[in-house]
Order: sequence, then structure tokens, then C-alpha cells
Amino acid sequence: MAVKIKTLSGYFHEYQKSVVNPEQFWGQQAEDFFWRKKYTCVLKWNFKEPRIEWFKDGQLNLTENIFERQVFTLQDQPAIIWEPNDPNEATVQLTYGQLFEKVKQFSNVLISKGIHKGDRVAIYMPMIPDLAVAMLACARIGAVHSIVFAGFSSTALADRIIDAEAKMVITSDGSYRGSKQISIKPLIDEAVEKCPSVETIIVKKRTGIPVTMQAGRDFWWDELTAGASFDNVATVMNAEDPLFVLYTSGSTGKPKGLVHTTAGYMVYTSFTFRNVFQYSQGDIYFCSADIGWITGHSYIIYGPLLSGATTLMFEGIPTWPNAGRFWDIVEKYNVNQFYTAPTAIRSLMAEGNQFVEGKEMKSLKVLGTVGEPINEEAWHWYHDHVGKNRCPIVDTWWQTETGGVLISPLAGITPTKPSYATLPLPGIQPVILDNEGNELKGNSVEGNLCIEFPWPGIARTIYGDHERFQQTYFSSFPGYYFTGDGVKRDEDGYYRILGRVDDVINVSGHRMGTAEVENAINEHPRVVESAVVGFPHNIKGQGIYAFVVCNDMDESTSEEGIIHSIKIGVNNIIGPIARPDKVLIVSGLPKTRSGKIMRRILRKIAASDYTNFGDTSTLLDPMVVDQIIEKSKTLK
Ligand code: WTA
Repeated sequence: MAVKIKTLSGYFHEYQKSVVNPEQFWGQQAEDFFWRKKYTCVLKWNFKEPRIEWFKDGQLNLTENIFERQVFTLQDQPAIIWEPNDPNEATVQLTYGQLFEKVKQFSNVLISKGIHKGDRVAIYMPMIPDLAVAMLACARIGAVHSIVFAGFSSTALADRIIDAEAKMVITSDGSYRGSKQISIKPLIDEAVEKCPSVETIIVKKRTGIPVTMQAGRDFWWDELTAGASFDNVATVMNAEDPLFVLYTSGSTGKPKGLVHTTAGYMVYTSFTFRNVFQYSQGDIYFCSADIGWITGHSYIIYGPLLSGATTLMFEGIPTWPNAGRFWDIVEKYNVNQFYTAPTAIRSLMAEGNQFVEGKEMKSLKVLGTVGEPINEEAWHWYHDHVGKNRCPIVDTWWQTETGGVLISPLAGITPTKPSYATLPLPGIQPVILDNEGNELKGNSVEGNLCIEFPWPGIARTIYGDHERFQQTYFSSFPGYYFTGDGVKRDEDGYYRILGRVDDVINVSGHRMGTAEVENAINEHPRVVESAVVGFPHNIKGQGIYAFVVCNDMDESTSEEGIIHSIKIGVNNIIGPIARPDKVLIVSGLPKTRSGKIMRRILRKIAASDYTNFGDTSTLLDPMVVDQIIEKSKTLK
């Protein structure tokens, strides 16, 4: 039987077992699932190529493990509770039985539109239940979904469709976000113009806003489902067949499509969901992430549904109609576990306590946070005002690449410390390496966070580019998976994540590659070159600071106009999340004699820290730094 840990000694016991005999440990976690054919080997791996195979030769379908396996016990239990953007609109609840019917029906729609096992399907949708139906239907027929966060621009969407060679796009006419109505279909049309692989677009009506439908290519969701049968037998998948691709930013080049496979991801997300959140049958669980990110994949949909949980999907934003919206939802549905990002906590904290005071939220048992380091002030506010001093906080550290949580307290079991992700989950073997690759053993050490042994949820490759996968994660420290994060292990052996050590910035819990933002800025006709760094931001955690060199600048040029158009440009090329907070037009960038930009210096200037720039002897032109400092002081 799969393990549910109940005590701290139980945690240490299971952890020990998972390290001494990982195959036996994970074999035990896989036992409860429904296998069409049992695996012959739990794990085969090397971190050199790398090649990682879990539950080899096993055959299964993930949705059979959500539906067929659990349907006798859960038929009438709510699987998804949907809270619309507008609190006055009717909510939707889908029981496991009802969701199953919808998934089978939409599976048949996909098949009727020529989607086969292995085909890629791009999904760009607001947070409505049909998004869950679309992804589960893909999983049921063996199509590989690639969900793109519906805040990305048409260019960013097109890049992702092209890279994954998606045959179909599933979308909606528009969406609601707070007081705004947003149009989506025209953005899809624009993107698809550049994507010859797309044969079909399925459009779910959400806002009713008029849209153009191209005959033969575009179809209304409701018309297709109206005639579709509810009978569908799941496609048999191999354990290592891809389940989905999800794009994320890295320190170089274009976003990478991380590939997650079927059986390992299934076992890992359900194991971690049950243990980290200590979910009990009948609890109402609410994760406020968007399904367009890994948190939504693993902990709104797959982990909870595989565990027979009731998962709440919220379409709107935390500050509309007012900053008490989350707490209203908690009270409306008696939410037991609530999971959100530090940036949301900080922004609600900044709105004042009046929105949370008076909300008793007696049902709450567990609070979770994810996506970026949580500062102590936000941790305490969350603990005291939201959790009313009685709910443990699970600060869960993980990544798109890891598939599920790796380091986190188990709710109510692991003693917590503000801003510490605490201890590794069973099966996770973290190590701290210095920049030369030496392992820093023992406590009270700080360095690069690596993992030395695979776990079932680890991504297997980058779509279409295995070499890049190897280079990005397995080459800096041969033999280890390198996370890109810095970490401290304190005197108690507790882990505190210090943030990225590469050129990735974490803006409001969203990963943004500096190179990606620079490429977008450089598209501006006046821009010669640019350098982007993160800077400390009260609400977002990190903000985006761009140093930009422009051509033909003279006294009469309006810098304001150029800065504005640079910001709009980034907005259009990537999306609002990449829009720089600050743009400083400078006459040159600090470069070494070999032409490398010294970002370390720019990071300090962006943080208004003008002391101790370290070794600047390799700078080509030290004067540039003084000029940038002077100018930066004029920027608000
Ligand atoms: C950061 C999100 C500190 C980290 C699930 C990581 C965190 C990146 C935490 C992954 C945490 C995530 N404490 N930092 N609890 N959780 N991070 O791929 O830098 O969107 O590498 O996955 O977010 O972001 P991603």
C-alpha cells in the first residue's frame, strides 16, 4: 500500500527506507495503481546521458487511475469545484462521475478530429472546467498536451506551437479577469498564421464576444461535443510515454519544452500531494495557481484527482471585487487546504488587514506556498492573519523540471521555520556543491543545490533537444541534477532556498530568462543592445531592470517615448509578465575585454547598492560604470 506519513518519526523512517532501497520504496507507492501490464523494473538510470526510466515495460492510462480505478467509491463526490471570476455567477461542481463523462466525450471529439496517440495539442484557455476536461481527454487518448499560460502573447504562443509541432489548438472566445473582459480568439488566429502544423482549432464559448471562425479549421466546442458519444476506452500507454510538454524559461535562448512522462509523474504527484498537504478524504483543497504553470498541472489537476480529492479551480484574481476574494472563497466552500504564491500573499498584505480580519476561515487546516522564496514578514502575516496561528505552513520548493515538490515540510508533522522549505521528501537526495563541484557535507553550509538520485517525477528531456537537456541540467556538475538554485543548510539540517544562481529571474513567482527579455527588447528599432537583471521588489519578489543602449540619441530625443515603446514591445512579444519595471537608457554596458557583460555590477546598481563592486580590473571601460550609476540615481 502507498504510504501516508503521520508522524515525524514515520517521516524519518520512510526517508531512510527510500534512500536505502529506492526501488522497493517507489515500487510500494506504485502498487495501488491500476496497471494494464505490470512493470518489469522499477528504475533504470544514469545522469550522464541522462537516461531515466521508471516502471519500465509497465502499461497504463493515467485517466483510468483517476476514473475507472476510483469511480465506485467516488462517483458522487465532487472532483472539481469551479468558482467563476464573478462571485455572482453560478458555480459549477463536477462529481468524479460527471467529469468522467465529459472527459470520455471530449476524448471522442479529439479522435474525430484526427488526433492520435503521440500528437501534440496546444491548450490556451482561461481557468474554466473545460480546461481540465481538455487536458484529461488528451491524457486519455495519449495525446501530449502543451498548455500555454493564457497571459502569453501571440508570438510567445506561436513559438511554443511551432516548437512542439502541435496539430491542434484548444482555446476559448475570450476570458474574464477581474473587471476586464479579454478577447482570446484573435490572438490565436494571429499565432496560428505562423504555425503550419495546426490543422484544427476548437473554441469553447466563455464570454460570447463575437469571433471569426475559419470554415474547415475552427470548430465550436459545444457543437462538437453535442453529437459525441460517451463511450470511450482509454488508450494503453507505456510507462515512459510522454504525458505533457510544458515550456519554461532558462538562462539562455528560447523557452524549453520540458517533457514529463506517464507513470513516474502519476506516482510522484499523488504521493507528494497526499503527504505534503495531509489531504484526507472529503477535504476541500484550493490551489490558486493557474493551470498554465506546473503548479496547476501537478497540484490542481493530476495530484489531487489521482488522490480522489476535491480540487477547487478559481477563474478570477485575488483582488477583485476586493482583496478579500480568496478568504471569501475559503469561507464559501469551507476550504481545508489553501496553496498560493508568496507574491499573492505580499500583495494582499499590502492592501491592509481589513480584508482578512473578521474572516474566521475555521475550516482551514493547512496553508501552502510555492514559486519563490517567502520572506519572513509575509510568512508571519500568512501564519497569523490567514491561518489564525493554527495552520501549519508548507513552504514547498520544486520546479517545472521536478514535476512535483522535492523539499517541503509535511503539514503538521515537520516543525516549520519561517522561510525554510525544511527537509527533503522521501526519495529526494539533495546535495550542496561549491562552484568547483566539491560536496559541502554537514550542516551550516551554503552553495549550489543539486540532487544526486532520480525520483519518479523528474522531467525526462527537453522536447526535440535532448542535448540541451543534458547541457542545462547535467553538465555543470557531472553526475548530478543541477537545479539552478542556491541553498543554505542550517545548523539543524534544514534547507533554505536562496534564489536562482543563474540568469533566471523570478518575477511574481514566474520564471523569466534574462536572455528572453533582452531578445524582445533588442527587437526595438532604436535599441543597439541591452542587459536585463532582477532587482528586489516589495511585492513581486524580483522586478525586471533593463539597461539599454540606443542609437541616434541626442539632446532632442525623448527618452520617455522610447522607454514606453520598449515596454510595450516586450509586452507584445512575450506578455505582460515580462514587461520591465525599469528601463534605463545608458551610453554603454560594463563589459570585460572579451566582450562579456558584467551582470554582477548591473545587479548591484539595480539594487541601488553602489558599494564594493568586487574585481573590476577586467573592465574594458571603467568609466561606463560611473555613468550608469549617476544615471540610475535619476530613475524613480
Ligand atoms: C523558485 C514552480 C524558494 C526556485 C513550482 C525554482 C522557490 C523556481 C520555491 C522554479 C520555494 C519554487 N522557495 N524558491 N518554496 N518554489 N522556487 O519552474 O528558484 O515555475 O528554481 O516551478 O522557483 O519555478 P517553476
